Amino acid sequence: MSEPVATGRKIRLHILRCNPADPASVPHKQTFELEQSEGMTLFIALNEIREKQDPSLQFDFVCRAGICGSCGMVINGRPGLACRTLTKEVGPEITLAPLPFFELIGDLSVDTGTWMRGMSERLETWVHMKKDDVDFKRIEEPMDPDLAEKIYELDRCIECGCCVAACGTARMREDFVGAVGINKVARFRLDPRETRTDADYYELIGNDSGVFGCMSLLGCHDVCPKDLPLQEQIAFVRRKMVAEGMK
Ligand code: SF4
Ligand code: F3S
Ligand code: FES
Repeated sequence: MSEPVATGRKIRLHILRCNPADPASVPHKQTFELEQSEGMTLFIALNEIREKQDPSLQFDFVCRAGICGSCGMVINGRPGLACRTLTKEVGPEITLAPLPFFELIGDLSVDTGTWMRGMSERLETWVHMKKDDVDFKRIEEPMDPDLAEKIYELDRCIECGCCVAACGTARMREDFVGAVGINKVARFRLDPRETRTDADYYELIGNDSGVFGCMSLLGCHDVCPKDLPLQEQIAFVRRKMVAEGMK
């Protein structure tokens, strides 16, 4: 592999650090200075810090390509994906903190999985087919391309947690399913194999833990790294429920 091309420019990362597993650990900011290389992302910068300056620094990465959703963190006050963020776009002084709302594992690493799983189980985010529909021929039936496109659009959610971390309602209501949950319901509602009805969906999210708990703060929509139409989905469900006299 070729060596990264140095730009001669210094950047400074101010990282909020804390290790809940260590009772003596006190939250504090630590500053690391390094030279920015050409095309450097926060993923590259954090790895360089861990390799050359502090092996104890905790953060999560899997895919490095904006697909796995594991590198969400607060970058200069805004939730985002570290692997998709160029240091030259947010530097030279960069502040990093773990996503709020989720359980802190250590430094920049949080447990989004437990919350996402709980939300998915509550909303049953999978296709509910009739018993006699469960055969592979039906599963592989070709879908109308326009509909497939619409489903694909909503399926692009990577469960990074940025929308939940940016949402004031989620901080106030433990049972709030977040824009991610509402988006998932919208996705399964479109699926032609699904047997749940609109009324079933409205029962799940047509309440204060769903669309009517949302205060339209729009943080979710602003920070979603996949640019999902979150605000449209929330507004659509609300309008439908009012139009159909369900609210
Ligand atoms: Fe992340 Fe967007 Fe999915 Fe929220 S909706 S979890 S911000 S990809
Ligand atoms: Fe939260 Fe998004 Fe609603 S930020 S309050 S879910 S518009
Ligand atoms: Fe997978 Fe960033 S490492 S989304």
